[in-house]
Amino acid sequence: MDRTTTQLLADLDLPTPGRTLLLPGVEAQQWLGARLAELPPGTLLFLEGELGSGKTTLTQGLVRALGFSGLVSSPTYALMHRYPAVQGAVLHIDAYRVRHPQELYEMDLEVLVQQARLSVMEWGQLYYPDFPDAPILRLQHQDDPDVRLLERVR
Ligand SMILES: Nc1ncnc2c1ncn2[C@@H]1O[C@H](COP(=O)(O)OP(=O)(O)OP(=O)(O)O)[C@@H](O)[C@H]1O
Ligand SMILES: [Mg+2]
Repeated sequence: MDRTTTQLLADLDLPTPGRTLLLPGVEAQQWLGARLAELPPGTLLFLEGELGSGKTTLTQGLVRALGFSGLVSSPTYALMHRYPAVQGAVLHIDAYRVRHPQELYEMDLEVLVQQARLSVMEWGQLYYPDFPDAPILRLQHQDDPDVRLLERVR
């Protein structure tokens, strides 16, 4: 992980794996996404967490902050959405249906990630070993349905 990424995570009060942050509502979730839009070009960000934990909501904040005002929706069926943001292309991948890593490598995943301003992958556990420098954030539901807990996993 490069210095800029490490510093940004520290600025967000996520200096080490295991650190958590409460996100009280959709606006907070999107605000965090907007801050993560400051990650350096070519970064792949992994988001994990059960269905409905807010991965796509966070991504909406990130994509908007980079200058794309259109619809940011779940790419579950398309596998990958590519948003032409002002600051560069943003890839939004949902690997929920992927059974073998090869499926995305056939789409030249590594090259696409390198060329993108930023890439976000939901359900990307299969790809963690191949992108050892990519930060991993986990979202969890809380008893209060309007709150999510974010944990830095890597
Ligand atoms: N911090 C939050 N507080 C309250 N509600 C939230 C928060 N973040 C997201 N939500 C709401 O939770 C719902 C599900 O969010 P979202 O689609 O982003 O989840 P997801 O993790 O991407 O789900 P999936 O795994 O199905 O793709 C949405 O209705 C969204 O508005
Ligand atoms: Mg989603």
